[in-house]
Amino acid sequence: MTVYTRILGTGGYLPDRVVTNADLERTVDTSDAWIVERTGIRTRHVVAADETCCDLAEQAARRALSAAQLDPGDIDLIVVATTTPDQTFPSTACLLQQRLGIRGCPAFDVQAVCTGFVYALSIVDKFIRTGSARCALVVGAETISRILNWEDRGTSVLFGDGAGAVVVGAASAPGVVSTHLHADGAFKELLQVPAGIGNGGAGSPYMEMKGNEVFRMAVTILGRIVDEALEANGMARSELDWLVPHQANIRIIQATARKLNLPMERVVVTVGQHGNTSAASVPLAFDQAVRDGRIQRGQTVLMEAFGGGFTWGSILLRY
Ligand code: COA
Repeated sequence: MTVYTRILGTGGYLPDRVVTNADLERTVDTSDAWIVERTGIRTRHVVAADETCCDLAEQAARRALSAAQLDPGDIDLIVVATTTPDQTFPSTACLLQQRLGIRGCPAFDVQAVCTGFVYALSIVDKFIRTGSARCALVVGAETISRILNWEDRGTSVLFGDGAGAVVVGAASAPGVVSTHLHADGAFKELLQVPAGIGNGGAGSPYMEMKGNEVFRMAVTILGRIVDEALEANGMARSELDWLVPHQANIRIIQATARKLNLPMERVVVTVGQHGNTSAASVPLAFDQAVRDGRIQRGQTVLMEAFGGGFTWGSILLRY
């Protein structure tokens, strides 16, 4: 019997502190009008000084477990997608495992920046399909605020912190229909944090981005990956109930939807409330649309993302 990966529950968590565009006007040369017009972002959430990526991941994970009506003890695989782990090691997944009181099951992080959750869920799908796991916790969690230069208006206005999670289990019907992952390291200089272990911490510890070039790449890539997923499954665009795109910039999302002839009513958009939360953005948007009743059981959903690396990918699923 073919085994599929089915989403059993979703959860999301945003830290309490809200930073508005008006707040940013006081610290960098920007304006609410510019940020809203160019990005669609109005607010972003930022962690407190003593709050970590694992704290956010734990809240989202507990909410997803509760939605799935499962206990931590039911989980036999934990994967956390993050670019901003609490420590170099142990992985945030291991820290989360300890927080949830789970012992012995595999737990590891995935680093694919904003495509992290799509990578993580694709990997977990392989574990479930091959029988290596039966019930997994997949989390995208980020404290991107810690790698932002808050004096750089080109990046600081765009990002925020948060976490999104899903609990998935083995099922006899889809579930996840297809996954497509890609990367191309040739574009590494367009979006990066230069400092790292390999260069002894030299270089900037903050995100550097060539915004314009990333924008153009994103629109091209995102349109292409929707078509790739649909073609692989012999599906028409009209058969998609929902597109859940990476929440980076409303103009990128609108341009992708236009290119695909997809009405915005079928696109989940949350970027205005929390900005780009990197690996957390797709599961946060998905969770919100499930909880507010837009995404219904049996509907067809396409998740897609792109990010630093460059990395990009999609997941087509029947919810
Ligand atoms: N406030 C006010 N002005 C700003 C600004 C800000 N926060 N950031 C940049 N500007 C200025 C620029 O300096 C430039 O001024 P100039 O014309 O005097 O040189 C002007 O606005 C236009 O800059 P430009 O970069 O052409 O704007 P844009 O329309 O491309 O928008 C981004 C900039 C960053 C919003 C846009 O390029 C973008 O969203 N890129 C993709 C980023 C992204 O999604 N990254 C994550 C990928 S996972």
